[in-house]
Amino acid sequence: MLDILVRAARLPDAKLPADIAIRDGRIVEIAPRIEAQAARVIDAAGQLVAPPFVDPHFHMDATLSLGLPRLNRSGTLLEGIALWGELKPLLTPEAVMERALRYCDLAVSQGLLAIRSHVDVCDDRLTATEALLEVRRRVAPYIDLQLVAFPQDGLYRSPNAEKNLLRALDMGVDVVGGIPHFERTMQAGTDSVRRLCEIAADRGLPVDLHCDESDDPLSRHIETLAAETLRLGLQGRATGSHCTSMHSMDNYYASKLIPLIAEAGLHIIPNPLINITLQGRSDTYPRRRGLTRIAELRAAGVNVALGQDCTMDPWYPLGSADMLEVAHMGIHAVPMTSREAMAWAFRSVTQGGAAAMGLPDPTLRVGGPASLVILQARDPIEAIRLRATRLYVLREGRILAETAPRQARLSLPGRPETLDPAAYAPIAED
Ligand code: FE2
Repeated sequence: MLDILVRAARLPDAKLPADIAIRDGRIVEIAPRIEAQAARVIDAAGQLVAPPFVDPHFHMDATLSLGLPRLNRSGTLLEGIALWGELKPLLTPEAVMERALRYCDLAVSQGLLAIRSHVDVCDDRLTATEALLEVRRRVAPYIDLQLVAFPQDGLYRSPNAEKNLLRALDMGVDVVGGIPHFERTMQAGTDSVRRLCEIAADRGLPVDLHCDESDDPLSRHIETLAAETLRLGLQGRATGSHCTSMHSMDNYYASKLIPLIAEAGLHIIPNPLINITLQGRSDTYPRRRGLTRIAELRAAGVNVALGQDCTMDPWYPLGSADMLEVAHMGIHAVPMTSREAMAWAFRSVTQGGAAAMGLPDPTLRVGGPASLVILQARDPIEAIRLRATRLYVLREGRILAETAPRQARLSLPGRPETLDPAAYAPIAED
């Protein structure tokens, strides 16, 4: 007897639908037709069944705080940091937890079941750290939440940042964070990368730095991160997040840097929703886009995982915990519209994010956990195009969320009465 039988599931890379049998939280069989009794049968009707989404870069301490204590008028990164500085002394553990848990509800409804969140440790009370550690404990049955000790105001620029960062790690925060481009000088930024990598090496932890989130082509802290990763043997557990200065770098320098990033096994996490809005703000025209060199990094074999970064906070007024929206913006902002690249964008917000977080490969397979999302779309590209409805969200065989399919009722002479967006247009074949 099965717990759940999913009929006619279209796996991301499969041409034909298959049935998925689930027992005791695991996938026990995938076959064209499974004849077995099940406590519950879900008819996927040929729709896409994919691994859950992963967001490897988020700020859960600030999420859903839009307008507190005021709005970001310039829309810049620096006003966002200043605004967050105004809000920080007003934070209470209860308010941080309440917003974070509300966000996690939203995330689950969107099939987003793994999140790496930075948490600002430049607050002597460590209010947000304590609150998010409690949130991590509470959501553990349904979300893999990793926390990064993030010295938002600079490891050296903020007086107690290093002490607080070490305290946060002692309290159980998972990853070492940093922000070298926000230190007072390039040299201080370089020193901070070295120190943070040494802390990660000493403690056996991953390191994930906000690296060069700047339009300055000479912001080259990613180079130091790669070199330190090699020096200290941190390959595979070091990440450069944002890396937007690479967009503006000299091409010759970039041609030397990218192989170094690959050699060091760095993960790179661009955040398209945020950086398409934050970067280029001091440009007149032409105005620069705000993404790192995704195509070139991919071609060099680097794991590039798209992140969301923000939802309704001092830096970004929009967002909806939707990693398909992130992939959609990435496709536009790079731009990368080949079918291969768009299919990659879907993997980037599933498998790519899991690799960056050091989680097991979530590809759906027999023997693996029955953690999956059934989408109202026929393939990954259509899912991105439609930001498809998550019909079912399962974690280890347990249904966490269900959403009714989107369907419009039309009143048009001589036209169909209903319209299912996922069945409306032909899908392209390679
Ligand atoms: Fe960030």
